[in-house]
Amino acid sequence: MYILGIESSCDDTAAAVVRDGRELASSCIATSADEQNLYGGVVPEIASRRHIEHISGVCGRALREAGIGMQDIDAVAATFAPGLIGAVLVGLNFAKGLAYAAQKPLVPVHHLRGHIAALYLTYPQLKPPFLCLVASGGHSHIVMVRDYVRFEVLGRTVDDAAGEAFDKVARTLGLGYPGGPLVSREAQKGDPAAYRLPTPKVEGRYNVSFSGLKTAVLNVVNQAKMKGEAVSTPDMCASFEHKITDILAEKLLLAARDHGAKKICVAGGVAANTKLRETLQAGADKLSAQLYLPLPALCGDNAAMIAAQGYYELQNGNTAGLDLNGLPTLGIDYEPAALRDGALRDKE
Ligand code: KG4
Ligand code: ZN
Repeated sequence: MYILGIESSCDDTAAAVVRDGRELASSCIATSADEQNLYGGVVPEIASRRHIEHISGVCGRALREAGIGMQDIDAVAATFAPGLIGAVLVGLNFAKGLAYAAQKPLVPVHHLRGHIAALYLTYPQLKPPFLCLVASGGHSHIVMVRDYVRFEVLGRTVDDAAGEAFDKVARTLGLGYPGGPLVSREAQKGDPAAYRLPTPKVEGRYNVSFSGLKTAVLNVVNQAKMKGEAVSTPDMCASFEHKITDILAEKLLLAARDHGAKKICVAGGVAANTKLRETLQAGADKLSAQLYLPLPALCGDNAAMIAAQGYYELQNGNTAGLDLNGLPTLGIDYEPAALRDGALRDKE
């Protein structure tokens, strides 16, 4: 069974074809990240405009590279939540048009469920249940993945997402956008013990908080400026990366210990971080647990993950009509039945 996936929730316009939820047939991405870099972050209006320009070409390429046509596709899966609403609607409406014209089912996919499904493409044998840290530019969740379409959020950030903290620190240090890979690259040349950064206190056993950490970096930089002193960018990046990856790993491993989880996963843009991967591997070994990490190319936003999750949503009968709306803040643990009867739409 072939699913065409479409993703446009942030600054990447992506389309992909996946076979039976596990096998990548094609994956195409056009990004506006370079243009967004001029403004130090994502400008929603620009993201929407670039999606409009790219969506048709990217979908055509995904089909061509998979060597199939719309007649061979069994369903069209698209991100409908969460994300920048103007951006989400571009991909979603295009998906509706394709589904309608080709008379194929339309499958709504939650973006974070998609990030988790990147693991199914990386590990064809991996099956739920497992424990997963989902860390992206907009979200940081510790999720118990009960089955392919049932999720329980055990912990979350109470303020900034992990990727957002990387991006803000990068901006403070004048490194550019997206910040994660740039901070990580600088960190390799620095000393992680150079700056003592705080571990923010937070209520909730598995919750995290990064706003204080980001402010601490800003304070060090501002105070140094006032004194006419220099801040070492590599040292600050290494200190920050060490602290934030430690916090993420500690909470995930705590949840794993408490729940006796033997399968531990990470997903989302921040899952590409080498330091986080190493810290988690050491922790998982201590717990005699198996660690699953997505292929680096599938950590950031892509449509292959949307097609993969779309396959499992379709298997569970989670299709939608052409009145499906985009939901900018919907949680990962929504009930598909509530989506069908419109109850969720009215809350947003
Ligand atoms: O999942 P994603 O591509 O988009 C969202 O759904 O938000 O995540 C993007 C985030 C950005 O904040 C980016 O800075 C971060 O992931 N990121 C990283 C790395 N690569 C991307 N953060 C830390 N280390 C990295 N290597
Ligand atoms: Zn994402």
